[in-house]
Amino acid sequence: MSNSTDSENTHILNKPITISGVMPPDDDASDGDTGTNSSLAPHWSADAPKGGKIVMNRALKESAAVPLFLAQTFVQSLRDVGYDSTTSALCEHVDNAIGANASEVRVLIRQTGKKGTLKTDIIVHDNGSGMAPNVLKVATSFGGSMVFNNRSGIGRFGMGMKTAGLSMAPAIEIISWQEAGAYYRMILDTVAIGRDKSNLIALDDPEYLGTLDADIANFFTVPMSFPKDTKEQILLAPHDIDLQDALGHSGTIVYMPECDRLSSATARTLVEDATKTFAHVYRRALTKGLKIYVNNRPVEASDPTLSMPSARHTRLSALDNISVKTSRLVTAHKISIFPHTGAPLAHDVHIKIYALPIREWSKLSRKALSEIGVFNDQNVTILRNDREVFVGHVTKLVKRHGTAAWYRIEIDFPGELDEAFGVASNKQGVRMKDFVVEAIKKEISDDLISIRADVEQVQAQNAIEKKGAGPSLSETKANEADPFQAEQLDANLTEAEKAQIEENLRGLAIGLQRENETEEEAFQRIQASRYIIRFHHDKYWPFYDVDHKFGRVILTINTAHPFYEKLYEPVMARALETTNGDDDDGSKLQPNNLATTLDLLLLSLARTQSVMSQSNVEAAELFETFRQNWSNTLKIQMSR
Ligand SMILES: Nc1ncnc2c1ncn2[C@@H]1O[C@H](COP(=O)(O)OP(=O)(O)OP(=O)(O)O)[C@@H](O)[C@H]1O
Ligand SMILES: [Mg+2]
Repeated sequence: MSNSTDSENTHILNKPITISGVMPPDDDASDGDTGTNSSLAPHWSADAPKGGKIVMNRALKESAAVPLFLAQTFVQSLRDVGYDSTTSALCEHVDNAIGANASEVRVLIRQTGKKGTLKTDIIVHDNGSGMAPNVLKVATSFGGSMVFNNRSGIGRFGMGMKTAGLSMAPAIEIISWQEAGAYYRMILDTVAIGRDKSNLIALDDPEYLGTLDADIANFFTVPMSFPKDTKEQILLAPHDIDLQDALGHSGTIVYMPECDRLSSATARTLVEDATKTFAHVYRRALTKGLKIYVNNRPVEASDPTLSMPSARHTRLSALDNISVKTSRLVTAHKISIFPHTGAPLAHDVHIKIYALPIREWSKLSRKALSEIGVFNDQNVTILRNDREVFVGHVTKLVKRHGTAAWYRIEIDFPGELDEAFGVASNKQGVRMKDFVVEAIKKEISDDLISIRADVEQVQAQNAIEKKGAGPSLSETKANEADPFQAEQLDANLTEAEKAQIEENLRGLAIGLQRENETEEEAFQRIQASRYIIRFHHDKYWPFYDVDHKFGRVILTINTAHPFYEKLYEPVMARALETTNGDDDDGSKLQPNNLATTLDLLLLSLARTQSVMSQSNVEAAELFETFRQNWSNTLKIQMSR
């Protein structure tokens, strides 16, 4: 490599040749095995590229020149570069379109044939700058980039278009134009490359096309099989519009025919996943006016932080009667981070924390909240140069916690910090270095503590309100069962004492009054029921407490204990969802059996404890210790 001259390099670029000292194969019959020491014979599979095998055997000979990249096998291996899904591979093409200043990108997933033998072809088209023929040719090579290592845009590795394309299909076609109708095409075909016997494979010149092949034109003029309702599809060129005009004076088409490696076999799943993912990955570009269509349906921006006034969730009918439609920015931080140790310059990272309007939204049904995206598990979103590279949970940064659904963290970093954030060439996700995680954590920890406390407070209040007016179903059931219990509560009270209790109930009612109750309502509730469930929020408390006074068994459930967050709350929420979720008719909330049974389990515990302690001080003390120890044990088990 080091001793090759410039003229040799130029020559190599133009025409397939072999490198110095190695003779090209003289006929097709040669399989390249002859003359190789058998102990050095490669153990390739039968379907390995034939051309590659020939070059390999040639290279294994003593002092043979060995190409740095064995193209025949290298392109095959690159097919497995590892995109999580078809959507994330498609993102590479959308990235390139944005890099080329496109205002419109179309992803078309065409499925034809019958079930079992479905054929899927994909096109990504954009109306960006297009590529001049020489650029197109260089762009087709691996590492060929017009922006190599430039950190200001999305692309920087010179790999995306090729690796993403080949991760879906064995061959790709790239068609680009910078003048209406002057289409140039490059083809990258792994099967043809695998058959090639040259030591060094060079790319041909782009081919000039007078018109687009009918097969490709078809993508833009005929609706896709999904969405089924073709009225939903806005075609680029319906039959009354000339395709060449519609394709405009510049643009690029990447065609991936006969895709053999897709993350789903059905167009529907592929289309829906791409639509959903593009909506948040490109939310900034979409709000600035970029149009992305997937199978001719426009993609609407969605926002994991739920803060964008224009995001999809703000138009949901669930929020029709709610004035607050977005989350609220709580704090914005800026920290400086060095790309790596010894780097001369630090760069800014912006961190924003958003709180969801829990007070306004928590009255909505769980179904509505899910639709809005409250439970979308998108607690942290990370954007590189305005393009989302990660969304989800970062356990290293924030612990999973029952409050996490109610706040969001948005982190923006510039391309200069790719090394620190651990951005791989396929731009899927981040692998933040520990020093980055620590710096962010330190900056936001105080904010998170206060947001969580606020959320917990509202959650505790809601738990109380969800019980509704009057005794709950479980309280009523416990009352009804009382006469059938073996041992009666307060069995040895005199009539005078009983009368005194009734008088004291007013005082008790004030202490147990719920926020949505009048004093009188609280009194009536307490008068009507021997069993009372209430909630309290204290992280140093056991998960429940029992108080037996004035003839009442008062069970307190601690909303700060993991028992509440991990068992009680989910069971109650699910109960409300199954009984009330579908029809928001305002009927009284009636929890289902599971929820009532859980309440009864706790009420029976409270009753037993009350009965056994009523005339036995030692038992009362033992129960106290037992309650504390059980709670701590449970807390430790549930928090590990
Ligand atoms: N849709 C397009 N419109 C115009 N030029 C494009 C388009 N797609 C690719 N290119 C050109 O081809 C080059 C190679 O694209 P490719 O995606 O392979 O690498 P990259 O974008 O430079 O880097 P990365 O590997 O980070 O994506 C780009 O640098 C760009 O110049
Ligand atoms: Mg790219």
